[in-house]
Amino acid sequence: MRGRPVAARPEGTTGHRVDRGTAATVRLVAERGQEEIRPDDPGSIRRMFRELAPDYDRLNSVLTFGLVHRWRRALVRTLGAGPGGRYVDVCAGTGMSTRAVRRAAGEEAVVVGVDFTPEMLERSDGLRVLGDALRLPFPDGTFDGAISSFALRDIADPVASLGEMARVLRPGGRLGILEIGRPRSALPRAGFDVWFRGAVPRVAGAFGHRRSHDFLVRSVRYLPPPEELCRELERLGLVEVGWRPLTLGAASLFVARRGT
Ligand SMILES: C[S@@+](CC[C@H](N)C(=O)[O-])C[C@H]1O[C@@H](n2cnc3c(N)ncnc32)[C@H](O)[C@@H]1O
Repeated sequence: MRGRPVAARPEGTTGHRVDRGTAATVRLVAERGQEEIRPDDPGSIRRMFRELAPDYDRLNSVLTFGLVHRWRRALVRTLGAGPGGRYVDVCAGTGMSTRAVRRAAGEEAVVVGVDFTPEMLERSDGLRVLGDALRLPFPDGTFDGAISSFALRDIADPVASLGEMARVLRPGGRLGILEIGRPRSALPRAGFDVWFRGAVPRVAGAFGHRRSHDFLVRSVRYLPPPEELCRELERLGLVEVGWRPLTLGAASLFVARRGT
């Protein structure tokens, strides 16, 4: 079932009609080189993803040489999703990870994707809610598992969003977070840097998405190192916290569980 998500737009957003008008102005400003994309300006993040949405999935596959699909499967495995259960994908975007959860958990599972950019979410399918990761529209303890992929860097307060994910997990529920990483050994790191910092913005530029990928490269700075992120998860009261590098460290997978 493709099409527009059913739920109300998130608080603080201006909605489709007004937002489109704003987008034209912002594009104009951006062309003059004045708009800055910043996580603490959620409007700039939404506008970036609105423009990127039609090419998002294709670019992700191209820029990761298809590895992104393998990383998503690793993320979903952390949920240990059997048949059935309730799962939420926070900042679900076009639903690539949401679908992977649905495939793992089967038809009887309830799998919800949440995102605040309608143009991303409408490319997904199944249950979708337009909502803010910083104020998830679900009661405490709703889900057996919560995931988020490649989104923490885009959120004004990533730790608060992790807190929201922890809140909506039932006791014993599992959390999985997938993020861009950076290899730690010298040789893979050098290769990664050449590709990620040098080539990725240029390749994306060939698709007309240079600005968003300049932001992508810059946004890695907003992520704490993996060990620090694990400490934040523990401070949130989560247990069995851990992380591991994927593909020599090009991506990082974080896992945790809500205590019983
Ligand atoms: C890089 S995309 C990742 C999409 C998807 N998770 C994936 O793995 O392909 C980041 C997504 O986070 C969403 N996002 C960023 N900040 C958000 C927030 N505060 N609340 C909800 N969605 C947000 C954006 O709209 C965008 O769709």
